[in-house]
Amino acid sequence: MSGGPDFHSGVNLGVPPVTYGEGSRPPRGDYAKARADYTCEQDYAQYSEADHDTYRRLYARQLQQLPGLACEEFISAVQQLGAPDRIPRFDDISERLMRTTGWQIVGVPGLIPEEAFFKLLAEKRFPVTDWMRTPEEFDYVVEPDVFHDLFGHVPLLFNPTFADYMQAYGAGGMKASRLDACELLTRLYWYTVEFGLINTPQGLRAYGAGILSSAGELRHSITAPEATRVGFDLQRLMRTRYRIDTYQATYFVIDSFQQLFDATRPDFTPVYEAVHGQSVVDAGVVLPGERNF
Ligand code: PHE
Ligand code: CO
Repeated sequence: MSGGPDFHSGVNLGVPPVTYGEGSRPPRGDYAKARADYTCEQDYAQYSEADHDTYRRLYARQLQQLPGLACEEFISAVQQLGAPDRIPRFDDISERLMRTTGWQIVGVPGLIPEEAFFKLLAEKRFPVTDWMRTPEEFDYVVEPDVFHDLFGHVPLLFNPTFADYMQAYGAGGMKASRLDACELLTRLYWYTVEFGLINTPQGLRAYGAGILSSAGELRHSITAPEATRVGFDLQRLMRTRYRIDTYQATYFVIDSFQQLFDATRPDFTPVYEAVHGQSVVDAGVVLPGERNF
């Protein structure tokens, strides 16, 4: 999510950002239409009937999988996205979000540089990619699209504790940029916001957007015997590499959103220092003495 001349300023120069784990294809969004802060209007007229149909089918497929796999906070909030048969209008969702947690969603052409991303989160503005994947990408899309961003991320922005965590993350990101610690902080996002699991009295459940918007990983993350699931520990997590092109080999399990918020409240400056002095852990590894859920 970073690199290039636009990275340090975080200002859109009309070209896509260089991203971590880049593939051979450049990001597909039109960055020329975005403002300096990388946001853009949701061009609702761009969507074809095929795009709406793709959204409807993705939504239906994920919705029927949620019981027993997704956390209750997500299930109870997902209807806030509105009618499941058309791509929602961002402004309609923002109106409901604003009343509930004070957040808004804003359109973006795709992945944006991390500094610009952190700043939007700190301002309680969640960036949502405006384009829809093609029908050929129904099962797998490399970059986040409007379905991943809306269905995966937006329901939990209606949860006050989780919404506060996202804002704190954004503010923390602006500091991490200055401390050269973005890679460590990005791991925190990856293993919580994108691929987090939560332990509930009914069993493990998913709250991460990358899991909740995935046809296959939702069940895999909760039930696959070969996956590693370790308890949330901030330094352990920041030491752990991740893969962007396969199901995760390691998931981190929180007890509650409050635990996550409390564990990330202290100043990370000494945490970054401590983690930089420790060895990196590969995905899939269980360390001695660790519980594998
Ligand atoms: N406490 C963190 C810091 O000092 C900020 C933060 C909060 C980061 C929540 C991530 C998540 O950098
Ligand atoms: Co995401």
